[in-house]
Amino acid sequence: MLEIENVTKNFGALTAVDNVSFRLGDTTISGLIGPNGSGKTTLFHLITGFYKLDTGNISFLNRKIDGLPPHIISRKGIVRTFQQTRVLPFLSTLDNLVAAAPGQLGENILPLFFRPARVAKEEAENREKALSILETLGLTKLRSTPAGDLSYGQQKLLEIGRVLMADPKLIILDEPTAGINPTLIRHLVTILENLAEQSVKIFLIEHNMPLVTELCDKIFVMDSGSLIFSGTPAEVHNNPRVIEAYLGREKDAAEA
Ligand SMILES: Nc1ncnc2c1ncn2[C@@H]1O[C@H](COP(=O)(O)OP(=O)(O)OP(=O)(O)O)[C@@H](O)[C@H]1O
Ligand SMILES: [Mg+2]
Repeated sequence: MLEIENVTKNFGALTAVDNVSFRLGDTTISGLIGPNGSGKTTLFHLITGFYKLDTGNISFLNRKIDGLPPHIISRKGIVRTFQQTRVLPFLSTLDNLVAAAPGQLGENILPLFFRPARVAKEEAENREKALSILETLGLTKLRSTPAGDLSYGQQKLLEIGRVLMADPKLIILDEPTAGINPTLIRHLVTILENLAEQSVKIFLIEHNMPLVTELCDKIFVMDSGSLIFSGTPAEVHNNPRVIEAYLGREKDAAEA
């Protein structure tokens, strides 16, 4: 599915991602963990085309994707959320989803004149799809509410809804549960597990270790830009290097 080969990204003298290689393979839900500043978000930006690599290759479904712009990568099926939520605050919850549908004919002015029926049909289909996604997310009652009035956690769910509008093959989530309450976290877990059952692959960055352990079949660990380990949740928990780089620090922080 996703293949990362010798990928490096420098910001001036800082190597944010340092010669990283791995494959996602057939794993349904994969996790990426590591201390703050270890290069996780940068790697996601590289995969989704928001940053250009300095060296290396990235391919998806056996096709090279590095060098392609984000919207083309998204059309190939890799769709992401951001660490900072990016909903459109003045649009309703429903319209946020409709606006996220890819390749809308109505966005281009010519079809409006020549094929209004087709544009109307596409809009109706997008609306239907958006309504069904709202149902999945449990946000139906809030469909007319401006997205800016939703709670932070609901906005994060809505972001996932925006991703789903694009019929993704691989969803990339940057800290989906950060700052949301435990009830919404459970709801999110159910949503992700349901997606996984529909054979959508998921790759997420997450600091919530119990959640990563529960959700992920495989975990990749970064430290100072390098991939230091990958394995099952149990293997990660028992690996001395990971404990030293990350889990130990988390534990120290929790005990402090
Ligand atoms: N656009 C940029 N310009 C310069 N330096 C950057 C840029 N983006 C990230 N960095 C630096 O690269 C390193 C990796 O940052 P990154 O955001 O990828 O870490 P992260 O693992 O996602 O951390 P966190 O868990 O805090 O989100 C950090 O030292 C960061 O300051
Ligand atoms: Mg980050």
